[in-house]
Amino acid sequence: MRRQMHLNLFIHSRGHHEASWRHPSATPHSVYDVEYYQDLARRAEAGLFDSIFFADQLALTDDVANGPRTGLEPLTLLAAIAVSTKRIGMISTASTTYTEPFNLARQFASLDHISHGRIGWNIVTSWLATAATNFGGGGPIAHADRYERGEEFMSVVKGLWDSWAQDALIDDRDLGKYVDSNRIRKINHDGQFYKVAGPLNMPRCPQGRPVLVQAGSSETGRDFAARHGEAIFTAQMEKVTAQEFYKDLKARVVSVGRETDQALVLPGLSPLIASTEAEAQRLADELGELSNPEAGRQRMSARFGGYDFSHLDLDAPLSPEDFPDPETVEAARSRTEVIINIVRREKPTLRQLLAKLAGARGHHTFTGTPEQVADLMEEWFNDKAADGFNLMPPILPRMLDVFVEEVVPILQKRGLFRTAYEGSTLRSHYGLHEPSSQFD
Ligand SMILES: Cc1cc2nc3c(=O)[nH]c(=O)nc-3n(C[C@H](O)[C@H](O)[C@H](O)COP(=O)(O)O)c2cc1C
Repeated sequence: MRRQMHLNLFIHSRGHHEASWRHPSATPHSVYDVEYYQDLARRAEAGLFDSIFFADQLALTDDVANGPRTGLEPLTLLAAIAVSTKRIGMISTASTTYTEPFNLARQFASLDHISHGRIGWNIVTSWLATAATNFGGGGPIAHADRYERGEEFMSVVKGLWDSWAQDALIDDRDLGKYVDSNRIRKINHDGQFYKVAGPLNMPRCPQGRPVLVQAGSSETGRDFAARHGEAIFTAQMEKVTAQEFYKDLKARVVSVGRETDQALVLPGLSPLIASTEAEAQRLADELGELSNPEAGRQRMSARFGGYDFSHLDLDAPLSPEDFPDPETVEAARSRTEVIINIVRREKPTLRQLLAKLAGARGHHTFTGTPEQVADLMEEWFNDKAADGFNLMPPILPRMLDVFVEEVVPILQKRGLFRTAYEGSTLRSHYGLHEPSSQFD
């Protein structure tokens, strides 16, 4: 069968543009209203998306005064969405740095049972420095330490998800036998960071384990993605850097003995779509006028682990020397590289740089007609820059609706996207194998 693209809907605020929450065409709902999210998920399901996705941060950021940078706790939210949808996959972020593996394993296994196999986990090590202040009060944990802990975390949760054989649950009322204890095993993990006996206290989940999603792009992050990631989110401003990332990631996947189609690369795409280019540009201008560069300055500082940019003139051209060396950044390292590359390439003023980041925080933004958006997606897909996209509508639900109504049919007509769901699990939508079982 011809290779087809995968589409994930990244749900954030009232849209991904930082000013979308103020725009008159954005949803009138509060970002704490579960019906807003249930409705968005159903719209994405009507558009045959593979999945929806929620990010998560473990601290309130200072820039909340300038817009809704908060939302509901995503695992709780997914349970509510699971019961109001039927086919679409659902991915939640959760941190390996600030959770316990046993509890995380059972939360995701529960969600996989609740949703009948539609759950994915975006594994993050939590880059936001202030998160540490909410978990024991210690200082931020260094980049390398977070990934080292994350690696051990993965072997614990994978062990727990594999601690029950598929046939361990008997539930025979006549025999009075509930499980076959020989088909359930402890994991007895005794490592540097965790000691976990196991087994998990519930049966193997419908997908064997949740789909593992990863979004780190530093050297360490890429190796981690190659070992564990089944779908990989990435922020790329240009096709050429997306191609480099794609090639590099797939090579790393091969080097650890995995098949390349079992690790899907999904760059972010944030399209402002209207029936004419001029109309789309007008929408972009409206959003630009609602943006606040001082809020952008604060956000950029958080990305760089709290680095102070307050002395920089908004209207003077920037140079890479205005930024710290990404190698020294303990926060969102790869995203700081994306930002410094823009500065190197385009020499923008701070105001221009912040306007560029306001659209989608360093992901690819595009303004144009449905046909032009479909062309762009086809080109990235055919030129090995993407296996699909992490769609980040700048205004919700409006830009999702336009995408579903106008762009999806073009992609379908070109044979690039499904015309019906074939399976019922997230693994089946993404074409991923079930993980093997130690009992097979
Ligand atoms: C689409 C996308 C979503 C992300 N969501 C989160 C998130 O919810 N929470 C978080 O702490 N980090 C999130 N990240 C950040 C990554 O987990 C990672 O920290 C960041 O890309 C820097 O990676 P690096 O440290 O390997 O350079 C996200 C990244 C991308 C591309």
